[in-house]
Amino acid sequence: MASLSNRVAAITGASSGIGLASAIALAREGAAVVLGARRRDRLDAAVREIEAAGGRAVAIEMDVTREADNERLVASAHAAFGRLDVVMCNAGFGYYGTLEDTPPEVMRRMMDVNYLGSFLGARAALPVFRAQGSGHLIFVSSIVGRRGIPFMGGYSATKSAQAALAESLRSEFAGSSIHVTCVYPISTRTEFHAAMERDYGHAVSGLGPRQSVAHVARAIVACVQRPRPELYPHRGSHALAILNIVAPGFTDRLVRKYGRGRDAAAQAPRDGHA
Ligand SMILES: NC(=O)c1ccc[n+]([C@@H]2O[C@H](COP(=O)([O-])OP(=O)(O)OC[C@H]3O[C@@H](n4cnc5c(N)ncnc54)[C@H](OP(=O)(O)O)[C@@H]3O)[C@@H](O)[C@H]2O)c1
Repeated sequence: MASLSNRVAAITGASSGIGLASAIALAREGAAVVLGARRRDRLDAAVREIEAAGGRAVAIEMDVTREADNERLVASAHAAFGRLDVVMCNAGFGYYGTLEDTPPEVMRRMMDVNYLGSFLGARAALPVFRAQGSGHLIFVSSIVGRRGIPFMGGYSATKSAQAALAESLRSEFAGSSIHVTCVYPISTRTEFHAAMERDYGHAVSGLGPRQSVAHVARAIVACVQRPRPELYPHRGSHALAILNIVAPGFTDRLVRKYGRGRDAAAQAPRDGHA
């Protein structure tokens, strides 16, 4: 596998979960990492951990919904380490509930963070990648961006939007040294569900197969070493996307059984989710 010792990666949503695990794993392989998120204390702790292990890292307090913050993330990579090779658009959150239970302002915020955050991250990175003639954009979508699941329609739509953006960009840069990857994790043990509970009072868990955050991070590191168009960290989850094309009605019933949360919780009023 290619050494990452001369690479610089900027990662949004790096204060916990997939973003943090990927930053640590990339730093372990020698990459310098720029960690972006809102919780400064978490970012500082991550930088200390990476540096204590001999790695190179800086923290940027940022909100992915702000264009200037994304530009600052990219500029900080240059300022700290002199280049930028990878931008991982990973920050995101979910919401559980029927469509009528999903307030429009929550949907707007979810679109802003999950989709617009990726758009703005890519928009900040691409001028740098074009100028140097190389770069790697990584969008962390979800398997639900390939096949929507019940009671997470709003969230699934934001993940589909990321996937469509990745595909369009990928075809624009096909044959060049600018790579675009879309990552489709399945249910992963992170703070994702705790954040949903903290912000919206939903206690939700995956009903189907799960994977560890370390597993996802390892797959992302391998993808940085050898870029690929799509990454399904859980082997076999790709089959769901194919099955959905071939047998959408059957897949409706399958994802209802193995989606997230429980029907009883979904039908209950909002306070009933906790
Ligand atoms: N866990 C799963 O089951 C799963 C499955 C498939 C896909 N994913 C996707 O994986 C990505 C990472 O999620 P995770 O599972 O690692 O959850 P997580 O542990 O909750 O991490 C989410 C990260 O996003 C950051 N974030 C949220 N809003 C932000 C904003 N406005 N600006 C900047 N950073 C923001 C959070 O940091 P701050 O709060 O400090 O800002 C945190 O670092 C998400 O896009 C999610 O949709 C997760």
